[in-house]
Amino acid sequence: MAVLQSLYVLLSLFIFVLIGVSLYYDHKLKIPPAPTLPWVRRKILKALKKHLTKDNVFIVELGSGWGGLSTSIARNFSKAGVRGFELSPFPYWFSKLREGKRVRFTRADIFDQDLSEYDAVVYYLSPVVAERLSAKFQAELKPGTIIVSNAFQLPGFEPVEVLETRIGVRIKIYVYRT
Ligand SMILES: C[S@@+](CC[C@H](N)C(=O)[O-])C[C@H]1O[C@@H](n2cnc3c(N)ncnc32)[C@H](O)[C@@H]1O
Repeated sequence: MAVLQSLYVLLSLFIFVLIGVSLYYDHKLKIPPAPTLPWVRRKILKALKKHLTKDNVFIVELGSGWGGLSTSIARNFSKAGVRGFELSPFPYWFSKLREGKRVRFTRADIFDQDLSEYDAVVYYLSPVVAERLSAKFQAELKPGTIIVSNAFQLPGFEPVEVLETRIGVRIKIYVYRT
């Protein structure tokens, strides 16, 4: 009985910490770790397939959450290296369980990363960081880099394509090229 009670206390404590830490990071980063919906993910993969002109590419996901989109990209691009950066601890730890030879996750702030080596950048962030992202992309990305933004436009860039989901709420996927 005492063991069960201790387990119950430990589990409650863990859930309490999980919720507390998650709320803290949602507030700090101004966006929760909501995963990209499967049908949106398919559109993102379609956009990458269409706009990437070679196979052995290096792709980064900014704010990689639970790791689902990055692992899916790695599965679909058999010669690509995929890197995800995520700051919120619980999604990050979960994504670490999904790492493979070609997909790696790092717990870091996306704004501290050098993006100059990537052939494609994928993200699902918030309009709050759009101006800052745009300035970073303009300063760091090499010419010809593909940018795929889930749901939000990137100020200062003209999209080369806009895709739209047809299921449920219509979501736009913006594709840019530097
Ligand atoms: C809406 S979720 C998208 C998750 C994942 N990209 C996907 O599409 O399934 C946005 C993620 O970005 C992360 N994030 C936001 N700002 C960040 C920052 N400055 N550095 C690292 N991660 C960040 C959040 O913690 C959150 O997990």
